[in-house]
Amino acid sequence: MSPPTILSIRRPDDWHVHLRDGPMLAACAVHTARQFARGIIMPNLVPPVTKAAEASAYRDRIRRAVPASLKFDPLMTCYLTDDADPVELVRGKSEGVWVAAKLYPAHATTNSAHGVTSMAQIAKALEAMEKAGMPLLVHGEVTDPEVDIFDREAVFLDKVLMPLLRHHQGLKVVLEHITTREGIGFVEAHPGRLGGTITPHHLSYNRNAIFKGGIRPHFYCLPIAKREKHRLALRRAATSGNPAFFLGTDTAPHTADSKECACGCAGVFNAPVAMQVYAQVFMEENALDKLEAFASLNGPRFYGLPINEERIILRAKPLAAPQRIDVPGGNQSIVVFRPDTPVEWSF
Ligand code: NCD
Ligand code: ZN
Repeated sequence: MSPPTILSIRRPDDWHVHLRDGPMLAACAVHTARQFARGIIMPNLVPPVTKAAEASAYRDRIRRAVPASLKFDPLMTCYLTDDADPVELVRGKSEGVWVAAKLYPAHATTNSAHGVTSMAQIAKALEAMEKAGMPLLVHGEVTDPEVDIFDREAVFLDKVLMPLLRHHQGLKVVLEHITTREGIGFVEAHPGRLGGTITPHHLSYNRNAIFKGGIRPHFYCLPIAKREKHRLALRRAATSGNPAFFLGTDTAPHTADSKECACGCAGVFNAPVAMQVYAQVFMEENALDKLEAFASLNGPRFYGLPINEERIILRAKPLAAPQRIDVPGGNQSIVVFRPDTPVEWSF
């Protein structure tokens, strides 16, 4: 049977998105809001979003940055630091500001300098979250420079995540942007407690793409893409229908200048092409019938939120998307992600 040429699914949500602030927010927000009804907004601004009042003000700025014709609901997260305040977490949650809190191990990734140095530091915060039913979203990489960059996720599972789950039996956790077979297996082994997001870029290429014919900064993100066997495990999990796995683009815009330089930033800006790339992957895996579960049903179920009533339509025709978008108020631009392989879906 030939694959469909039109795909109608419930409007999806993006459970992991970096929208930034100021001119970058002005440039990027519309691209996420065009495709997604809701987004879990990452709090790694400079300085990070640690107070409910800051998150609420940031949420207002996001709403103002989205054209009124597009309905988009930003779901805010708290950036956990070593002195994360349990009272602030619970209060922000009960006031309807926070949906979750994000754990960045200190120095693991972009803007994580204020992150957590050891889990013991945030034990009280995690206890409070557990009681309040507030999920913990995890950047799952150890930061020990002795650990090879390609092993940092797998080591994190054993050294940090396993003990954390043991100490906080009631805490719901999302392993964000999974990049390894081990990460997939870990989520599968903890049904009901653990969710996992998977990005379009980690589904589309393996680590070779970063070095093909030279160094390709626009394929560089953290966690870094791994070997092909890991990409295949991600593809199997995303298209399996397992409710633990859901969509999180990790769209992470940086200006072209700050990626195309001697020490380029980590992050892939995929918001304009996210659903098209996911549809391509699901088509290649003969699993287009599972796309709606991954993109629109599993996430809200994990977070205990209603599913969206509106629908979106994807069409089987070659991807049409800009190569880059401009950042207002200067001469900066952001390069839009495009896999090396064809994308035959348009939005
Ligand atoms: C993200 C960013 O730029 O904020 N970068 C990335 O490579 N994914 C941070 C993150 O999610 O690790
Ligand atoms: Zn991220």
